[in-house]
Amino acid sequence: MKVLGIETSCDETGIALYDSDTGLLGHVLYSQIELHQDYGGVVPELASRDHVRKIIPLIRQVLEESGVTKQDIDAVAYTAGPGLVGALLVGASVGKSIAYGWGVPAIPVHHMEGHLLAPMLEDNPPEMPFLALLVSGGHTQLIGVDNYSEYTILGESLDDAAGEAFDKAAKMLGLDYPGGPAIAKAAQQGDDSRFTFPRPMIGKPGLNFSFSGLKTYCMNTIDDCVESEGELTEKTRSDIACAFQTAVVDTLTMKCKRAIKQTDYKRLVIAGGVSANTLLREKLKNVMGGMGVEVYYPRLEFCTDNGAMIAFAGCQRLLAGESSDYSIQVKARWPLDQLKSG
Ligand code: KG4
Ligand code: ZN
Repeated sequence: MKVLGIETSCDETGIALYDSDTGLLGHVLYSQIELHQDYGGVVPELASRDHVRKIIPLIRQVLEESGVTKQDIDAVAYTAGPGLVGALLVGASVGKSIAYGWGVPAIPVHHMEGHLLAPMLEDNPPEMPFLALLVSGGHTQLIGVDNYSEYTILGESLDDAAGEAFDKAAKMLGLDYPGGPAIAKAAQQGDDSRFTFPRPMIGKPGLNFSFSGLKTYCMNTIDDCVESEGELTEKTRSDIACAFQTAVVDTLTMKCKRAIKQTDYKRLVIAGGVSANTLLREKLKNVMGGMGVEVYYPRLEFCTDNGAMIAFAGCQRLLAGESSDYSIQVKARWPLDQLKSG
């Protein structure tokens, strides 16, 4: 089965072709980062317009580069939510229209299920069941994955997502958007011992997260430093980035440890944009290794948004006999544990 995957939920147009027998046949990604950089975050209207410009040429490119013609395609999968409605509608409209024109099923895919399954595209994919830490710009969740579509949310952020916290802290520090990679880079020169940021919700039982207090702590630290030093120096910026990153990574690691202790899972998957963070990968590998838990994550380019994860997730749904009618529906919000009911 060959499935064309279309991802347009935010600021990346990702297109891919996945074959259930031979694996990934091709993928392309166009990132709008430069377009949004001047604004310090994604401007939804600009994102939608850019998806409109790119989507058809990218679909053509993937088909050409993979040497596959439209007659070979068995289904078209597209991200139906959660995400920016205007951006989602571009992918959904094009995906459904193409599927209708080609006479094949159209498959709506949950963006976070795409992230969750992204490590399945690697050579050594995790077997189910596993625990998943989904950390992106919009979500921070601990999910019990018992089978395809059998997802239980064990914990989640009560306010900002981890990626959102990185983006906001970076903005305060005068660093570029997206903030995660910018903070990670600045932190490389930082002194670990100068500031200690709090590890939110660690003292409380349970598996939920909260990152908005960390953001306030970051702002107050910047204000104190500017007051005493007269400006935000390069060194202080790196030291704060370092303290911030360590606090987020420690908090995520502690919650994963607690989740593993409370469940029987022997595998941990980390996925979503923040799973590209090197410190997080290293720390989780160390801590989980000590608990006999194996850690899996996607290759770097499939941590952030991409079409390959949507093509893969869509293919699993096709194999399970799912498809949808040709009405165009997207969801800005869509809890992952409501996936079965559609
Ligand atoms: O999964 P993703 O591409 O989009 C959403 O579904 O939200 O995640 C984007 C998020 C951004 O907040 C970005 O700052 C963060 O992932 N991110 C990182 C890193 N690379 C991307 N955060 C920390 N460290 C990184 N290396
Ligand atoms: Zn994403």
